[in-house]
Amino acid sequence: MSTAADELCRALGLETPVFQAGMGYVSHGRLAAAVCAAGGLGVIATGGEMSPAELRRHIEHVRDEAPGAPFGVNVLLPSGATDDAVYGSPAVIRAQLDTCFAERVPLIVSGLGDPRPLLPEIHAHGIRFVAVVGSLRAARNVASAGADAVVVQGNEAGGHVGPTGTSSLAQCAARELDVPVLVAGGIATAESVKAALGFGAAGVSIGTRFLASEESRAHARHKQAVVQASENGTAVTRACRGKPSRALRSPFVEAWLDRDAAVQPYPEQAAQHFWRARAGCIEGDWEEGFFPAGQCSAAIDAVLPAKQIVEGLSSLVVAA
Ligand SMILES: Cc1cc2nc3c(=O)[nH]c(=O)nc-3n(C[C@H](O)[C@H](O)[C@H](O)COP(=O)(O)O)c2cc1C
Repeated sequence: MSTAADELCRALGLETPVFQAGMGYVSHGRLAAAVCAAGGLGVIATGGEMSPAELRRHIEHVRDEAPGAPFGVNVLLPSGATDDAVYGSPAVIRAQLDTCFAERVPLIVSGLGDPRPLLPEIHAHGIRFVAVVGSLRAARNVASAGADAVVVQGNEAGGHVGPTGTSSLAQCAARELDVPVLVAGGIATAESVKAALGFGAAGVSIGTRFLASEESRAHARHKQAVVQASENGTAVTRACRGKPSRALRSPFVEAWLDRDAAVQPYPEQAAQHFWRARAGCIEGDWEEGFFPAGQCSAAIDAVLPAKQIVEGLSSLVVAA
């Protein structure tokens, strides 16, 4: 393992510098626990709408299945959220954070928005904080505000994305920042994990590869669509939530691709179409649903147990 990866693993108590990325509807307690038990960092996603009771259940599941292992909770902080927003409303996020504080979770991972105002409060509760960002500017901002690590996520990632590619972000951030940098977006194989560490990163944060795991909560149709997708099988659209998000080219995505000007901003667009994420991820409704996934779907050819995925991804960077 590289020095940076080794330091990250020691600091967090991991056996491998592999984070399973937070994925709304998809990465719940079962997947997070399986990744933790395999020596990586499992992350429970709240999806911007999970209730405190449900979050507590998933935390308990991870603690039961992987006793003592570090894990994270992913909290979404969409900018422009209003009290009545269908996801990411300030009241819902506050309740999720309070649950994390009460449960003393080891780590909070933010997605979207600017997490800086929350950092002092998170640290005051003795919780580590990792921010996921899509630009160098945001990476600098959260690093200088005191984030314990930064995940730079490139445009090929599944879910919400910025315009910049993974390798450009990774090599610049790893060279410049003095906090650990993890790379996200397009990483699905042992070779790409090794490449990310070669850029100087301390670790990787991986979504789509874990989506297509036995333990992920994604519907079987979502997993199979990832397995079958080519490198052009996804596209970026604002159609579901009013913010750019990469998803499989389902009929809903195709229908909006050349109508971007007609998309309303978040939260208005989300008020109409947010239900489609559940319809896709959980119900597997190919006609109406929205199925977030990354370009690296093309490199994924089977649904596997999470343990096998962690071991495979780690095989070129961690001694057996
Ligand atoms: C199905 C799906 C759901 C996602 N949901 C979230 C989420 O709730 N919060 C978040 O911060 N990122 C979310 N993401 C982004 C991931 O956390 C991660 O950054 C991304 O998947 C990494 O790229 P990869 O898919 O190429 O591995 C999601 C991604 C996918 C594929």
